[in-house]
Amino acid sequence: MIIASNFKTNYTREKTKSFVCAVQAAIQEMKSMQEVRIFVPATALDSFHEVASLHVGAQNFYPVDNGSFTGEIGFEQLEEFGITTVLIGHSERRHILGETQEFLARKYDFAQAKNVEIVYCVGEPKEIREKGIDAVMSYIWEQFDGIDISYSRLVVAYEPVWAIGTGLTASIGDIEEVLERLAEKLSAPLLYGGSVKVDNLESILHVKHCEGVLVGTASWNEEAFCKMIAVADAVKKG
Ligand code: PGA
Repeated sequence: MIIASNFKTNYTREKTKSFVCAVQAAIQEMKSMQEVRIFVPATALDSFHEVASLHVGAQNFYPVDNGSFTGEIGFEQLEEFGITTVLIGHSERRHILGETQEFLARKYDFAQAKNVEIVYCVGEPKEIREKGIDAVMSYIWEQFDGIDISYSRLVVAYEPVWAIGTGLTASIGDIEEVLERLAEKLSAPLLYGGSVKVDNLESILHVKHCEGVLVGTASWNEEAFCKMIAVADAVKKG
């Protein structure tokens, strides 16, 4: 399974380094079977002498190798650190930073051409959820406009906007229903994200079609994040 942490705008380079090293040591000690991802701030990008199943990823990039885009980071800057996994479509980039579907598709195409793993996030806001599952699914499928779902290194994270950073987790039934519908059309691994914690992780990982989680707030404590990896190791999926 994929157990991913999204640091968002938290932690310095120094703190990131100690976090990644601690997680690496824990993974090796546990002989963990999980694929671990840590999406760090741009200032803390590094390869950190990664172990095979842990990869540091980029939360963002501008879809160019390099150029004149003041304040942005191109792929050349990611490649310097051997970054092989990126987040695209996170709700904070869609809704707070104003990235449009057309721009996200450009980022996606660019990352796909670079053959890196793409963790592509989708999810509905509260007012859509209140309209029921059909409205939720048509909103989510629109978030696939311009996205090549046949890409072999695609991972899809279902993250309801109203559950991100709010402490509100989608019910197991809601997660199951959305992942089931996504799995009808997608062959990519499916993750869930939105207020995942040590306490609710096990039941989420037991959801059919759920192949991991993308965690924000609860992953920022390294002990809790290592515990999540251990919980995933204990879950046997049939
Ligand atoms: P959260 O964030 O775990 O704090 O809800 C999840 C995410 O933004 O990916």
